[in-house]
Amino acid sequence: MIVMGVETSCDETSVAISKDGKTMLSNVVLSQMELHASFGGVVPEIASREHVKGITAVFEEALKQAKITAKDVDLVAVTKGPGLIGSLLVGINAAKAFAFAHQIPIIGVHHIAGHIYANQIEGEMRFPLVCLVVSGGHTELILMRDHYRFEKLGETLDDAVGEAFDKVARVLGLGYPGGPKIDAQAVKGTPSYPMPDVPRKDEFTFSYSGLKSHVINLLNTMKMKGETVNVPNMCASFQEAAVEQLIYKSRQAVDAIGATMFMIAGGVAANKRLRARVEETFKDVEVLVPPFTYCTDNAAMMSIAGYYRYQMRPDNEGLSINGYPRLDLTEND
Ligand code: KG4
Ligand code: ZN
Repeated sequence: MIVMGVETSCDETSVAISKDGKTMLSNVVLSQMELHASFGGVVPEIASREHVKGITAVFEEALKQAKITAKDVDLVAVTKGPGLIGSLLVGINAAKAFAFAHQIPIIGVHHIAGHIYANQIEGEMRFPLVCLVVSGGHTELILMRDHYRFEKLGETLDDAVGEAFDKVARVLGLGYPGGPKIDAQAVKGTPSYPMPDVPRKDEFTFSYSGLKSHVINLLNTMKMKGETVNVPNMCASFQEAAVEQLIYKSRQAVDAIGATMFMIAGGVAANKRLRARVEETFKDVEVLVPPFTYCTDNAAMMSIAGYYRYQMRPDNEGLSINGYPRLDLTEND
């Protein structure tokens, strides 16, 4: 079965083609990151316009690289949300037009299901599994007892971890997106600045606003006192505290469930320190981490998630698909 994935929920225009829920035939990603960097974050209006400019060429390139034609595609899987509504609608309408013109079934897929299924591209999920989802908008623990069955164990009460990375990088003047910048700086430093303890009370919930404010306050105080900040050490200190919370909560969840497997997913899953700590902490269960290239937004993961979603529910949603800026994974899979 040949599945075309289409992803335009944020600032990446991406179309990918996979075969039988495993082999990637192509994964074309047109990133707008540099365009948004000068604004310090994604500008929604610019993002939608860039998607419009690039989407047709990205469709054509994905088919070309996969060495197939439109008539070979058996299913189109497009991100329906959550994300920037203007951006989502560009991908959805392009995908609908393609599916309608070539009479191919089409389904809307949840963006986070895509991130989770990035793990299935080179690995094999085993159930029950616990997946830590960490991106710019999400920090949550998901339990899966079978393919395409998502139960939420807990989520952040305030900021997402990726958001905290981006904010701290911004106040340190490191630029956007902040996660990779902090990751790179932290490698050169040691965690020497005091950070708040991991909030241990509520088992599976996260909180990042306290840690974020702590770093901002610390930097302001140092500035007022005329002290110079050791940026690599500050990054290492923040990152260590941020990752420790993810690891602590994940361990609790894996133990409570008696999970066979632990996985991570989303943009922050690219973080080197998180990946190392996962390896150290979960020696007693099977571990899956997505390949680096599939951590941040891409259509490859959407095509794999689409394949499994269609196995579970083979319905053609046709022209009824809509875009949703907010969408709960467990209620709208
Ligand atoms: O999944 P993603 O590409 O987009 C969303 O769906 O949100 O995640 C983007 C987030 C950003 O906050 C970015 O700073 C973070 O992932 N990120 C990282 C790293 N690479 C990306 N955070 C920490 N370390 C990284 N290496
Ligand atoms: Zn994402």
